[in-house]
Amino acid sequence: MSEPGIYPQLVWTLFGLAAAAFLYLLWRPAPYGRHFKGFGWGPTVSSKVGWIAMESPAVFLFLFVYLQGSMAWNMVPLVFLAIWQIHYINRTLIYPFRIRTKQRMPLVAAGSGFFFNVLNAYVNARFVSHLGEYDNAWLSEPCFLIGLAVFAGGMFLNMHSDNILQSLRKQGRTGYAIPDRGAFRYVSCPNYLGEILEWTGWAIATWSLGGLAFCVFTFANLVPRALSNHRWYQERFHEYPSERRALIPGVF
Ligand SMILES: NC(=O)c1ccc[n+]([C@@H]2O[C@H](COP(=O)([O-])OP(=O)(O)OC[C@H]3O[C@@H](n4cnc5c(N)ncnc54)[C@H](OP(=O)(O)O)[C@@H]3O)[C@@H](O)[C@H]2O)c1
Repeated sequence: MSEPGIYPQLVWTLFGLAAAAFLYLLWRPAPYGRHFKGFGWGPTVSSKVGWIAMESPAVFLFLFVYLQGSMAWNMVPLVFLAIWQIHYINRTLIYPFRIRTKQRMPLVAAGSGFFFNVLNAYVNARFVSHLGEYDNAWLSEPCFLIGLAVFAGGMFLNMHSDNILQSLRKQGRTGYAIPDRGAFRYVSCPNYLGEILEWTGWAIATWSLGGLAFCVFTFANLVPRALSNHRWYQERFHEYPSERRALIPGVF
């Protein structure tokens, strides 16, 4: 089958994975971080290794596929390459060295993340540098400008919130504390809200079905986890602020 025939099937596979992940994760949180008890999921790797391995396709495979595209050196695709790589170089090559966790990650969690990232990197890189049509006029399209702004706002919120979490374990502190700075005053998982905004911005700026599939997957993955994290905080800390919501300020 030719690429134009296979490509839509890959995109629909992403939508299918999003639906399956959403239903599963509402029932049981993914086994990493605070929701991994340390046993019951087979072999484990250190969280650093897990994060680097599972996110690597999003940096390296994305770049490789991107560079094969016929529009790889056009202005708009280059902007998409830049914002994607800013996010994923942080997530793959910087963030794992900043986390202060003793938790290990089951190989099965890192493996599923890896395979998702292979599919997602191909779908998104191939579209922005080859299958999509982005001439320079796209730079002034409202969807491009709004999408970029949403992406940038989401990235700021995501990184700022991840930094606040890392600061909770400074000076040798271990365990969990109630974060009370930044957007944590309003929701338990502003880092997830930032991540969802980033990929919503990506979907709007690229105006692509592949971008939308990734945005829907991120939502399907992180909304159930935000609800699980929120319940976890409430059960663990009796003094947890009652007005704080899980993900969207004032809503849920
Ligand atoms: N696009 C996607 O679908 C997707 C999927 C998953 C994650 N992500 C992104 O990846 C990043 C990490 O995700 P995550 O699920 O690992 O986030 P998380 O549960 O908020 O944990 C992030 C880090 O902070 C530590 N931490 C969390 N809460 C803490 C607290 N109350 N006190 C002290 N330390 C605390 C965690 O330690 P422990 O490991 O020891 O709990 C971990 O090292 C986020 O930015 C998220 O948006 C994206």
